[in-house]
Order: sequence, then C-alpha cells, then structure tokens
Amino acid sequence: MTDPDRPQPAPYVLDSAARADLEFDRLRTIEQVYDPGTEEILTRVKPAPGWSCLEVGAGAGSIARLLASLAGETGRVVATDTDPRFLRNIAHPGVEVIEHDITAGPLPPGSWDLIHARSVLEHLPDPESVLARLIPSLAPHGQLFAEAIDVSRETLAIAAEHAPDRRAATAFLEFATAVHRLMTLAGAHPELGSTLPVLLAAQGLEGITHQRRHPLVSGGERGFYALSLARLAPSFQDHGLLDTADDRLSSLFDDPSMVFPALPIGAAHGHTPAVGRRQRRT
Ligand SMILES: C[S@@+](CC[C@H](N)C(=O)[O-])C[C@H]1O[C@@H](n2cnc3c(N)ncnc32)[C@H](O)[C@@H]1O
Repeated sequence: MTDPDRPQPAPYVLDSAARADLEFDRLRTIEQVYDPGTEEILTRVKPAPGWSCLEVGAGAGSIARLLASLAGETGRVVATDTDPRFLRNIAHPGVEVIEHDITAGPLPPGSWDLIHARSVLEHLPDPESVLARLIPSLAPHGQLFAEAIDVSRETLAIAAEHAPDRRAATAFLEFATAVHRLMTLAGAHPELGSTLPVLLAAQGLEGITHQRRHPLVSGGERGFYALSLARLAPSFQDHGLLDTADDRLSSLFDDPSMVFPALPIGAAHGHTPAVGRRQRRT
C-alpha cells in the first residue's frame, strides 16, 4: 500500500508505455549521440580485466556491453533497469541483467570497482539520496561516473552557438527550454549535469573531474530529436508547453539536412579513497 506521508517518486518523464520499437530506436539514438563522449571518459577511468561494474538504468545496453568487454571473463557487469525489455537479448555473455529500481529496496549486492549511470539520475526525485546509496557500495578506490543532462540557461546559450544556423539554434532552444520546464513540473532535475561534481565531492569522493558536452546531431525521421519529440509530445501538450499541432518544429527535426546541438550533458567522475585512508575515516 502507498504510504501517503512518504514523498512519491516523480513519474519518470519518459515513462515506459511507448511502443517498443520506437522506444528501442530512441534509446539507440541516445547511445549514438552520447556514447563517444562516455567512451572517451572511460579511457581515462580505465576499467580493467577483473573489474566489477554496475551500469544503472542501462537502457539499450551499449555501455554495459562495453564494460563487459573491458572487464573480461574474470570481471562482472550487472546492468539494471526498471524497464529491462531492451536488455533481455543483450549480445554479451558477460552482462547480468537485473530488473531493478535504483531508488528502492536493496542494491544489487557487490563491491563495485565502477558504477556508471547516464541520463537516469536527473529523472529521479532525489538524485542525491541515490548517490548516497550507491557510493558506500563502491570498493576502495572504486569509481563513480555519473552523466546527466544540463539544460540550464547558460549551457543552452553555449550549445546554441554551435548550431550551424539560426533555424537550428532556435529549434534547439525551443525544444530544450520545453524539456527544462517539463522536467521541473515532474519534480525532475534538468540542470543536474552541472551540479554533479559538487554532489560527488559532498559524498567524500576524490579526484573529481567534470566535463560538459553537446555533440551535434543530424535531423531525420528516426533521429534523436524526431524520436524525442514524438515521445514527449503528449506531455508537452498536457502542460501547454509546445504547440505540437504546429508541425514547424517536427519538420525541422525530420529534415536530414538539418544539424542541431544535442541536449547538453554533464559528466562527473570521482573515486572513493584507497583502502587504508577509507578505514581511517570511518
Ligand atoms: C534516458 S534512458 C538512458 C539509458 C542509458 N543509460 C543511456 O544513456 O543510453 C533512462 C533509462 O533509465 C531507466 N530508469 C528510469 N528510472 C529508473 C530507476 N528508478 N531505476 C533504474 N532505471 C531507471 C529507464 O527505464 C531508461 O532505460
């Protein structure tokens, strides 16, 4: 039974009711857009053979697969998601898939060398408490690598400058501003990507790095923005945020000759103290 005194999680803005094929394609566009930056940061984190890795909210599973290939046969990779539909047939024997809500119940047991979460924490009502749950399950010198969108006004202005033309910049700003508003209304955290380093430091992590990125994406009917707009249109409509009856935005997003900045993402990474120092702190 629901406890009326307990704050209920905000509905995940992109709930799981979408048609499976469209949702799978949408998750794949997220991977195509953001994987290169994630992979670049992972080359510095250097997951090694034998590592235990937890991939939270694994989506369509590309990063879980990558971690499994780096951790090798002696390693362990657990991929969690509240909606593991697209992980069931994950093409890697080294990935253990678990249906799991990161905000509730016990964490998958483990002492993790690496925990990674991308585009998940910002959709949760209390990302700070999720980080506080995750970090104690890291091994000594375990790495926490979190990525979250950052559609703050400042970041959007910087990203818009990288749009190749004015129409692309305007469409990008219009969509991203509506996403900011929608997430705020849902009790989510549209600027989390910029505050992650502070949250990681507050949890006692060391060696913190932070990077913002807004890769460019092409338009197209099955592209990043067309699928995101299709997915969010009903919610935008409910809240009067974008005139979805006006197909100006969707024709721009459907146009393969257009190029837009993707929604900016902030990535932060840090590690727990090494074993001796961690013991002295406790
Ligand atoms: C925007 S997608 C990102 C997927 C993947 N991390 C990526 O970046 O390619 C967010 C994912 O988080 C999952 N998710 C949402 N709330 C969650 C929760 N409370 N616990 C675990 N996974 C969650 C969703 O089902 C979805 O697969």
